[in-house]
Order: sequence, then C-alpha cells, then structure tokens
Amino acid sequence: MELVILDTAEEIASRAADVIESLLNEKPNAVLGTATGSSPLPLYDELTRRCADGRLSFKDVTGFMLDEYVGLPEGHPERYATFMERNLRSRVDMAPGALHGPDALADDLEQACADYEAQMAAAGYCDLQILGIGVDGHIGFNEPGGPLDSATHVDVLTEQTRSDNARFFDGDIDAVPTHCLTQGLGTIMKARKLVLIATGANKAEAIAHLVEGEITPDWPATVMQNHPDALVLVDHAAASLL
Ligand code: GLP
Repeated sequence: MELVILDTAEEIASRAADVIESLLNEKPNAVLGTATGSSPLPLYDELTRRCADGRLSFKDVTGFMLDEYVGLPEGHPERYATFMERNLRSRVDMAPGALHGPDALADDLEQACADYEAQMAAAGYCDLQILGIGVDGHIGFNEPGGPLDSATHVDVLTEQTRSDNARFFDGDIDAVPTHCLTQGLGTIMKARKLVLIATGANKAEAIAHLVEGEITPDWPATVMQNHPDALVLVDHAAASLL
C-alpha cells in the first residue's frame, strides 16, 4: 500500500485525477468504481475541469457505484444515484446509463445484490476503484464486523455512520436510512487499483488502523493491506495519528 500525505484537498484531488487520467489514456473504455461522500467531491471537480479541457474523456467509460441507501425514492437528492449523476456523470462526457448502481428500490434486495455482483463480474470488475473511508473504518458501506471477502450485500448502517451522514439530511439522524446495499469487501478488492481519499482529523483513527493496524473486520478498510495496488491519499490532519 502506498501512502501519500499532501497539504490540501485540492492537491489530493489533483493526484487522484492524475492516476485516473493515465488509466483513461491507456484504456479509454476503463471500468471506474465511484464513491460518494464529501471526500471525492474535489476530485470530481478536477475530473470535470480536465474533461472540459479535453485532457480526458469518459465517453467509453463504464462506472459502478459502491453503494446505495435503501428507502430513498428516485430523485431524492441524497440518493447516491442522484448524487453521482449530479456530481460526476452529468458534468463529464459519460454516456447516460453508463454509471450503474445497486438497485435499492427492488422488491427483492438480496436478488438485486446478486444481480449487481453478476453485472460487475460480467464487466470484469473495476480497473480503478475510488474510495472514501468512514469514521468507523468502513469502505463502501461495509460496516465493522462483516466478513473481509463479502460480495455485494445488504448492510445495516451503524449509529456512527448515520450520525456522521445526518449532516446531509438537515442534521436529522431519523431521516438517514438504516439499511444500504454495498459492494462487498471482496468485490472492492477485485478492482485492479484502489485509490482512497481521506481528509480531516475525524478520519485520523481510521487511517491509523488502515495503514498501521492489524487486518481485522473491526476496521474493514484494513483489508486493503492485502491489495497489490492500493494508493492512500490523505492530508496532514487525517495522517495525524500515524
Ligand atoms: C458514506 C459512503 C462512503 C464514504 C463515507 C465517507 O458513508 N457510503 O463510501 O466513504 O460516506 O464520507 P465523507 O467523505 O463525507 O466523510
């Protein structure tokens, strides 16, 4: 695992965008795994700029989202499909319909998870997966305690995650869904390259476990230590417990 500590969120975004740009130069029809949360937003801004400048194109890219809330109706601003459409897909030249996510509106959620895993497998999984990290060490929405080799599944959000994400729901924790669909840790680990972004002191404990802790389901991101090509981009605050 390669750790890079940078001064600002913009430098982190630029470094991550460089990695994506070189992938797309090499493989214009790459499969890209996208993440939600606030951490990747500067990266999506940078990718939008580079696309407008003609430095890169998403014309032939297929995208797979990491996760989705259960219980939010179509078009809800915090639904991750809406988030990704707003913050990346509609801003670059990616084809409508080329960014996929697990169907959290399905009647049979287990089947929706199996279908999503099969769809990713058919696409050969991701060439590059963008990741944020939860305060409790989750990646995607793989909360602590689950198996390290899981496939796409239904997960239950922890109180910590629901309270962290309440800021997107007018501060109302009761408005934050209790369940989600998420790529499993095993799914994420099948990506050829992982790029994790974390900023701020509230991520310092999770980053310390990720980089220096033992591999354990208690800190799900630690499974990345087993990945042959993982890049962790953090600011000084997120690195402060290393
Ligand atoms: C959500 C997402 C995660 C993301 C995390 C961190 O829980 N499901 O994929 O990594 O938020 O969010 P933020 O970057 O806003 O701290």
